[in-house]
Amino acid sequence: MPFSDELKNATFPEGFAWGAATAAYQVEGGWNVDGKGPSIWDTFTHQKGKIFQDQTGDRACNSYELWEEDLKCIKQLGLSHYRLSFSWSRLLPEGTACNINKKGVAYYDRIINDLLTNKVTPMVTLNHFDLPQALEDKGGWKNEQIVDIFDEYAKFCFQTFGDRVKLWLTLNEPHVSANLGYEEGIFPPGLKEPGMSVYQVGHNMIKSHAKAWHSYNTIFRQEQKGLVSLALNSDWAEPFDPSSQDDINATDRYMAFMLGWFANPIFVDGDYPAIMKSQIKARSEKQGFVSSRLPEFTKEEQNMIKGSADFFALNYYTSRKVKYSKSPLKMQSFKTDKEAEGIIDPSWPVPGVAWLAVVPWGLRKLLEYIKKTCNDPKIYITENGFSLMGPASLEDNQRCQFYRETLQEILIAIHQDGVDVRGYFAWSLLDNFEWACGYSVRFGLFQVDFENPEFPRTMYKSGKEYATIISCNGFVNKKAT
Ligand code: BGC
Repeated sequence: MPFSDELKNATFPEGFAWGAATAAYQVEGGWNVDGKGPSIWDTFTHQKGKIFQDQTGDRACNSYELWEEDLKCIKQLGLSHYRLSFSWSRLLPEGTACNINKKGVAYYDRIINDLLTNKVTPMVTLNHFDLPQALEDKGGWKNEQIVDIFDEYAKFCFQTFGDRVKLWLTLNEPHVSANLGYEEGIFPPGLKEPGMSVYQVGHNMIKSHAKAWHSYNTIFRQEQKGLVSLALNSDWAEPFDPSSQDDINATDRYMAFMLGWFANPIFVDGDYPAIMKSQIKARSEKQGFVSSRLPEFTKEEQNMIKGSADFFALNYYTSRKVKYSKSPLKMQSFKTDKEAEGIIDPSWPVPGVAWLAVVPWGLRKLLEYIKKTCNDPKIYITENGFSLMGPASLEDNQRCQFYRETLQEILIAIHQDGVDVRGYFAWSLLDNFEWACGYSVRFGLFQVDFENPEFPRTMYKSGKEYATIISCNGFVNKKAT
């Protein structure tokens, strides 16, 4: 997409949030110190054969001890916002407020206070994949009781930190944790239960989010005046063959199963997308199930879920061309229910991990799609980034170009398409533990030397590039002209 002449001088709106993001398990380390309870990621990474070279987040970037170094990185970039997540089991080692870990509270108090002292606004995710193991032992996200337990945890956090934290995300990417944790088995709890628990888990996550939003709304909002949402990930998808009705329908299903699964209930009408419901119902019937494998919300639940977000938080990484693929009936799974296969266009560069084709213009299209289908919400892009296979060179020119092109697409979305984009968080502040890929994949604006016991952080060239864009609030240095 060309960056037109009229937009050359355009800037981001005043007050635009310039951020970077991390997640507790990926950066903190200190997995068993100062009273922290284990999370499902601790359990999972300690098993053999789950993660690249059996690496773990036991030490990660050691941000538990090196927070001050992270703060220096944040200041060097000139960020106005920083997105972090709380480790639930660092705060509540057994997952419930029966046991509160004061040292965990002190750790996050310090981070939040240091950010505010430095005029950086925190955005906090309550749970970024790392469910306390004690809760997993009681059935985790599959057990409906999680809805009340999550609400208790959320209220504890609002109560404890909400005087200072004004931007909250309940969950990160329920699509990813449900799909990879319960169907593909490559994230904890590592289950491969195709076509069933993935939907049950998604269902409980939606209700957990909505209940916590209502708690904020009724108990804390008036006093604390913050905003609460959840981070949803989505690809942008286009038909492989734009003249094929099958591919067009498959593309609609692809978007419905990825974004609509969570966005439709919360931002539109309290229920799953119609095409998702009809597709799973029809396939379930033919497979001999008495009811759809996709659970139903009661009317009361629909009313609770609809509208339970104060802004849209989008994690965007890549795009796909979608082909219709007829699935054999005996195969029940989330993947096959879609009957849509996402393909990487051969013209799209794939410099890092295989799934991450670099398609900055897909973000513009996705933003416009969200504007149209989700009632024109305020949007924060809460994650977006570019992976390199590690250890990566400090001269990460491709990543520099990626950030420039992506931010230009966002400027176009704001100025030409009228999308209400409020902020952008680069993934990630630091190279970190990239889940199943361990440390082999690097997303940081700062390189971390994991071989050195001091875990030194060094700014990549892309960090400098991002800092320059932030200081100009766009691409033109107005101060110099
Ligand atoms: C997650 C991050 C992850 C990133 C890159 C997102 O799915 O929220 O935790 O590191 O993508 O894979």
